[in-house]
Amino acid sequence: MIRPFFLENGELLVLDQRLLPREERWLCVRDCEGAADVITTMAVRGAPAIGCVAAWGMAFAARDLAAVNSGDDVRREALREAGRRLVATRPTAVNLPWAVTRMLGVADATPTGEWTERLSREAAAIVVEDLSFCRAIGRHGLEALPPGRLTVLTHCNAGALATAGYGTALGVIRALAGEGRLARVYADDTRPRQQGARLTAWELHREGLPVTLIADTVAGMLMQRRAIDAVVTGADRVAANGDSANKIGTYQLAVLAAHHGVPFFIAAPTSTIDMACGTGDDIVIEERDPDEVRRIDDVLVAPADVDVFNPAFDVTPGSLITAIITERGVVRPSYRESLASMMQK
Ligand code: MRU
Repeated sequence: MIRPFFLENGELLVLDQRLLPREERWLCVRDCEGAADVITTMAVRGAPAIGCVAAWGMAFAARDLAAVNSGDDVRREALREAGRRLVATRPTAVNLPWAVTRMLGVADATPTGEWTERLSREAAAIVVEDLSFCRAIGRHGLEALPPGRLTVLTHCNAGALATAGYGTALGVIRALAGEGRLARVYADDTRPRQQGARLTAWELHREGLPVTLIADTVAGMLMQRRAIDAVVTGADRVAANGDSANKIGTYQLAVLAAHHGVPFFIAAPTSTIDMACGTGDDIVIEERDPDEVRRIDDVLVAPADVDVFNPAFDVTPGSLITAIITERGVVRPSYRESLASMMQK
């Protein structure tokens, strides 16, 4: 099974996703700064995966602070600072603050002398949980999607590489394949960083699943030809009313799907649901380096100094989402009520 990171001899080995599919190189993360670095540079990406790596960053920070000869208050404040450093790496995915807050809660309830063991255990638990949540999302997806053998369209990479393994949107797709219900997956290229081409196509192709890579601009034509039975994507933050931030381009897919009567699903663990965020308007959208659009890898494909707008995510209104598939079950509109009742369980 593809894993984007694993712990070995007290260090976190992280697959450098920037080099895929050309090369499989593993980076060694030994401390909090190393964790912040692999998230910032997008060596690791995908909302649940960066939450897991941030949890390990907190465990490493706690281990290093437990060894420092200073007072408890100083160490506790330094751990909070480490959390702020990790949360600042990428603003949109709520899994980052979710994981950091959970780790700080455990640290608050633990004597500093026991931090090393206790926080490592918590980070490991977050990873194990994420993997089991992805499998549960896959199972729930089988009931949420239309019956029969399906051709599914997905965007970006919400796969094993974006989680602790197995994936959310690709978890649903893997579950369909396991039941003999997957006819084909169309994977959007996903400009500008091409997570669909470099990661989703790589993941699925390597497993022998029927995947066809398309340029982002092909989705409308396929829907017009009635070639798509369902769209399934992941999410980086789901607001209390169901508005969902995901990779740029997701919103236009949802509009196309609504126009063509194709059901549109979000697959995400509850760690991606932010009940403190009232609507999509409250979600901070990360803007990235203009060169991601001007260049493909290092090759310039536009004037070097042309003005660029490069938002990394967009928000799909809950009104365009047929259902949200989580590890706890499937919620449907009206999301304000259905999400509130699921999150209380
Ligand atoms: O910028 P990225 O590659 O981190 O964006 C990833 C996505 O948008 C994914 O769809 C989302 O994080 C869900 S991953 C299970």
